[in-house]
Amino acid sequence: LRHLIEPEDFSLDELNHLIALGEEIHAAPEKYSEACKGKILATLFYEPSTRTKFSFETAMLRLGGSIIGFSDANTSSVSKGESIADTIRVMSAYADVAVMRHPKEGAPKLASLYSSIPIINGGDGGHQHPTQTLTDLLTIQTFKGSIDNQVVAFCGDLKFGRTVHSLIRTLARYNIKKFILISPEELKLPELLKRTLVDVYQVELMEVKTIEEVVEEIDILYMTRIQKERFFNEADYARLKDSYIIDKAKIQKAKQDMIIMHPLPRVNEIAYEVDTDPRAVYFEQAKLGVYIRMALIMKLLEVA
Ligand code: CP
Repeated sequence: LRHLIEPEDFSLDELNHLIALGEEIHAAPEKYSEACKGKILATLFYEPSTRTKFSFETAMLRLGGSIIGFSDANTSSVSKGESIADTIRVMSAYADVAVMRHPKEGAPKLASLYSSIPIINGGDGGHQHPTQTLTDLLTIQTFKGSIDNQVVAFCGDLKFGRTVHSLIRTLARYNIKKFILISPEELKLPELLKRTLVDVYQVELMEVKTIEEVVEEIDILYMTRIQKERFFNEADYARLKDSYIIDKAKIQKAKQDMIIMHPLPRVNEIAYEVDTDPRAVYFEQAKLGVYIRMALIMKLLEVA
């Protein structure tokens, strides 16, 4: 029984196999329309979501399977105090695979300990978001042709950003040329993660305060939202929320083949005028999330 709680649950070979399968599905999704016929995906969302929940549901429906679940825990017996352990024991009897999003770090891991079906972490607090990482890898492969030899800049909330935490650890397992971290002092990448990247993975890491000072050398600009829901205090959020806003002028000197990614949702950090720039791939990124999640469901249900 395999789960996906954090990207390290899969070897590099397995990640590459999933990316390749995602590309095949993208090219001819109709070939897989009965791959999961008769199977049921449970979506257990204790925290709001648009992309992760609906792309998983779309993925399972496109594979010929069915979906059950909740997107508001208050409509389930969670509101009566039912524990994650009991919820997952019950859901294991109803579904074949489950994806869980939870505001608390470690909740999907806990669920996996009580589950008899594969559990997928759909995002746990400020910790990990492994299926966003799969989406990001497929996006990089699709638009850059390779994950290796890229200069990757992460910009925004690097402290609480679970998409950043999962992706940077995963990219460190490839041959990335350099990581550039762009964040306010208060939202820097956690020190332990930084030390792991440098000491264990021996990656080149550079920290700067502005996009302007590095924009010309970036191959992949990964923008993130300053996340209101992770702040304890409204004043700190108000002070930091517009720390980075890219517009046409800010990316004028960037490489013509740079790509701009964002896990979405965005608030202010990318001006709408950037959407029509050919380097802006964030909506394509969200679309690719369906294909890689189809590949993941097939792998965990052992039909791939
Ligand atoms: N990228 C992402 O996780 O989006 P949602 O919060 O809408 O699922």
